Amino acid sequence: MYPQINRLMNCPRLTLVLLLCGGLLLLCGIANAIAVEKGSLSASELSSLTAETGELANRLDQRDVRRRLIAIDDELSGHRNPEVSRLREKVLCLLAKSLDEDAIQYIQTVFETDTEHRDEAAYALSLYAIQKPSDLAIWRFLIRSLTVVEGDQAVSVMKALTRYRQRATNPRWIRRIILIGLRLPESDQGVSIQLLEHWTNVRATELLKTKTKATNSVILAAYQNWFRKKWPDELDPVWPKLPEKSRWTYAGLKRKLAPLVFNKENVTRGKAVYKKAGCAKCHRKGDVGENLGPDLSDIAGLRQRKELLEAILFPNLELNEDYPSVTVLTNSGKTYSGLMSVGKSGVVHIIDSEGKRSAVKKDDIESISPSRQSNMPVGTLDPLSFQEICDLIAFVELRANSPQAYHRKEGP
Ligand code: HEC
Repeated sequence: MYPQINRLMNCPRLTLVLLLCGGLLLLCGIANAIAVEKGSLSASELSSLTAETGELANRLDQRDVRRRLIAIDDELSGHRNPEVSRLREKVLCLLAKSLDEDAIQYIQTVFETDTEHRDEAAYALSLYAIQKPSDLAIWRFLIRSLTVVEGDQAVSVMKALTRYRQRATNPRWIRRIILIGLRLPESDQGVSIQLLEHWTNVRATELLKTKTKATNSVILAAYQNWFRKKWPDELDPVWPKLPEKSRWTYAGLKRKLAPLVFNKENVTRGKAVYKKAGCAKCHRKGDVGENLGPDLSDIAGLRQRKELLEAILFPNLELNEDYPSVTVLTNSGKTYSGLMSVGKSGVVHIIDSEGKRSAVKKDDIESISPSRQSNMPVGTLDPLSFQEICDLIAFVELRANSPQAYHRKEGP
């Protein structure tokens, strides 16, 4: 009858996700997460660890040296500070250069368990993979890192991916490579073009149909157009823009939020902001909110702070196929757009981006078409002060049973 409806009604993944979320919440009791302090690292401690790392760099073939590097990295974990991140990147890269199996295993564990340092771990893994592009487990880590790596890290990860015979053919990842390329300086864009050629099997020269040498940005633009033609139903391969009147910028918020460590007071206030900003209408978080969009109870285990910020500021950067947005046209010519859920008695519910529900009888439906527009509203941060944004992020980042995220008494 209506293939779209049937597909959604029979979506076992959706049901499974809902069931799992419910179970998880019962188990976790998120409200009990308590901040535990981790002593901060003094400047002198940091500089002596930096000096020690420098000395160890020439003796990577020794097992105890590698063990010491792992111990240093462990000591550095849990601190939010750009200098610490730089040292961690150095330590992880040294471990990667050792090409030792245990060291590589350790870096993979950092990637998996320490979300905020995923980009540094991915960078280190890329150095290893450039030497040994055979391990498919590492290929997968590199692919997963594409949503977080930037600048030199991104260049190195893409370079490693060109060495593998394995190709990613899902448009989501191809779009990502275009997006990453667009953000790089022109001189670094070449590697994203190489990777696009490798994955799509479409040569830049075929796209341009000219013998004269084109600049990297012209070639990337040609891939953008090629992508649009090939996958007209996918999101456009461009970075979404904030509305002109937007109060906050992504870069500004990202920079200001990056070093902050939040405390329990931030979290408590953040719960109120979460409701005020309307997030609770669609997202479940612990014991608050509805289950219309993805469950955010343990989102900090999956996403870095900058990714959360991206998701909030740019709902159309990536769509989640488990929460498809649709446009429903009725026989009488009315349209409804939003998230769709199918009720028991032959009624389809559509929940729009304001959280307003409409019910339409299945028999009254003329057509249902997928929408390329996220149902999450744009501009949710505009009414909030910087303090409220901090509190909101603190609440969203709260993890059910990981104390690591909170380790200092005074918060911003
Ligand atoms: C009308 C429903 C709606 C509202 C209101 C809403 N969201 Fe969303 N949100 C979604 C949907 C649907 C997605 C899945 C991505 C997509 O397909 O658009 C999403 C995705 C996200 C993600 C990414 C999750 C992931 O798995 O990576 C985050 C983080 C998020 N929202 C946070 C918020 C916050 C914080 C607020 C409040 C300021 C908010 N959302 C308000 C519907 C909503």
